[in-house]
Amino acid sequence: MKAQVYIAKSDEYGKRQWAYYEVPCAPSDRVSQALQYIYENLDADIAYRQCFCKRGSCGLCMMTVNGKCVKTCRTPVSPVMRIEPLPLPVVRDLVVSFSEREGKGRARQV
Ligand code: FES
Repeated sequence: MKAQVYIAKSDEYGKRQWAYYEVPCAPSDRVSQALQYIYENLDADIAYRQCFCKRGSCGLCMMTVNGKCVKTCRTPVSPVMRIEPLPLPVVRDLVVSFSEREGKGRARQV
């Protein structure tokens, strides 16, 4: 199958724009694999966190896919995917800063 993938990329001023890609994939592939295909074959300029554990335990691969916050290493591809960063401060493209979330966590422990 070919998935239609829209990715929220940041322009030089930090404004989001949708970039479109067609990605060959199997139904059993994960969203993270589609992102890796795009990076390796279509757009090496895209910024995203590559999977670390690939088992759903570290959470570093989390993004917003079709409006839901998911772990991309555990989420199967769908025919149409809109991939955005998590609702946190965006560093670039799909990379967010977790420092705000970590700061809130520490505050709760005090
Ligand atoms: S890579 Fe660790 S949760 Fe996805």
